[in-house]
Amino acid sequence: MSRLVVISNRVAVAKARGAAGAQGGLAGALNAALKENGGIWFGWSGQECDEFSGQVSFQRSGDGVTTATIDLEKHDIDEYYYGYANSTLWPLFHFRIDLTEYEREFGKGYERVNELFAQAAQPLIEEDDIVWVHDYHFMPLGERLRSMGLKNKIGFFLHIPWPPTNLFVSLPYHERLVRSLLHYDLIGFQNDTWLDSFLHYCRKELGAEVDEAAGTITLDGRTSLAKAYPIGIDYDYFTGLGDTGDARQAEQRLISSTRRRTAMIGVDRLDYSKGLPERLDGISRFFDNYPEHTRDLVFIQIAPPSREDIGSYQQIRAVLEQKTGQINGARSEVDLVPVRYVNRGYSQAELYGFYRGSKIGLVTPLRDGMNLVAKEYIAAQDPEDPGVLILSRFAGAAQQMPDALLINPHSPDDIAYNIKLALDMPLEERKARYEKLIGTVRDDNVLVWTENFIADLKARD
Ligand code: F6P
Repeated sequence: MSRLVVISNRVAVAKARGAAGAQGGLAGALNAALKENGGIWFGWSGQECDEFSGQVSFQRSGDGVTTATIDLEKHDIDEYYYGYANSTLWPLFHFRIDLTEYEREFGKGYERVNELFAQAAQPLIEEDDIVWVHDYHFMPLGERLRSMGLKNKIGFFLHIPWPPTNLFVSLPYHERLVRSLLHYDLIGFQNDTWLDSFLHYCRKELGAEVDEAAGTITLDGRTSLAKAYPIGIDYDYFTGLGDTGDARQAEQRLISSTRRRTAMIGVDRLDYSKGLPERLDGISRFFDNYPEHTRDLVFIQIAPPSREDIGSYQQIRAVLEQKTGQINGARSEVDLVPVRYVNRGYSQAELYGFYRGSKIGLVTPLRDGMNLVAKEYIAAQDPEDPGVLILSRFAGAAQQMPDALLINPHSPDDIAYNIKLALDMPLEERKARYEKLIGTVRDDNVLVWTENFIADLKARD
């Protein structure tokens, strides 16, 4: 039986698992895939070293997953992780051309670190292994591995959006990046929108032969398959958390602290793509438009800081602090604070409890590859008295979850109006929406995602 070798920038080391919410969806999903299939998970340790040695450290997690990690030097971390990955590709791929930095040194660092990763990964890969590379940090990695003679099936999955062609071409050397991507046997996207943008680029800019129906792209005599695989949550594991003491205590803690008020919750990495200032504007508009609710709604925003060395992340944090202060300053009473803004992560069990205790889940990114918080919120609801999910139409998840209240995150009025709808929604309608949503969350789970991707990768010639 062939093993699975997963390569991603982050690996879920034991420490990171305690800080869920700060990891994004990728780490949890890959942990589930590897628990099921066995194999090795290779990536960056998150640590800095004085001099790169290429030495791989192995660790076995509580879940029985073997991780293999390397440390990186400071200038590599700066140019590859903070630089090209998160100051160039991340903003551009989230349609934020205004925040995108096009530094030559970042591009060089990205290429260099991809080469380092390929060299360190190659000895770990056995003949029959299936290699699955993840996310925008490692687009050129497949080509590097091929140039070292690797004959294995190699697939790539992009967890974030793929931007429209006319935005993507603002990236210097965009052709080189996509040409390297076309060395993977299979390229996965979160949904058809991102897939279509990618195929459009390949046809228009590279002149590749694209078979839309089959999803194949042929260039320079090589053919890759590109397809959408919407990622899901580890449904059995996550719903199983409902029976833990941590989840029950978290739910009780939230309910008792909000007393008779309705709790509304948001859980996001502190990132400008998540639409957090716009969300607060929507909440402020809600209190303006419906002042009778000032005393009966509490908004809890959990936002663990992320990528703190980057200026745009420092700015978004400052904006949020200011906006939270403004809303609370204008509306607090001695016994009432309308917005609770929490800058830390919680375990998944605690999040389960917080979601379950909240009658409204607010997930309003300006752009998001998928967004698994939307799915976790639904999975944690009580089927007899479910809460209402308010979801941005610009999250990848919206295509699979049309029975959420879909909103435009740029419109404070739309957010405010839908909060009101959610508050007033009769039990029967809440249950009807929940029934449809839970079906998708349960059936299109992370194991199905893994199985589908691996089956297609194995079937490549
Ligand atoms: O899901 C997108 C993603 O960028 C992952 O690749 C990443 O692990 C996660 O968000 C969290 O970001 P970071 O690893 O930069 O903290």
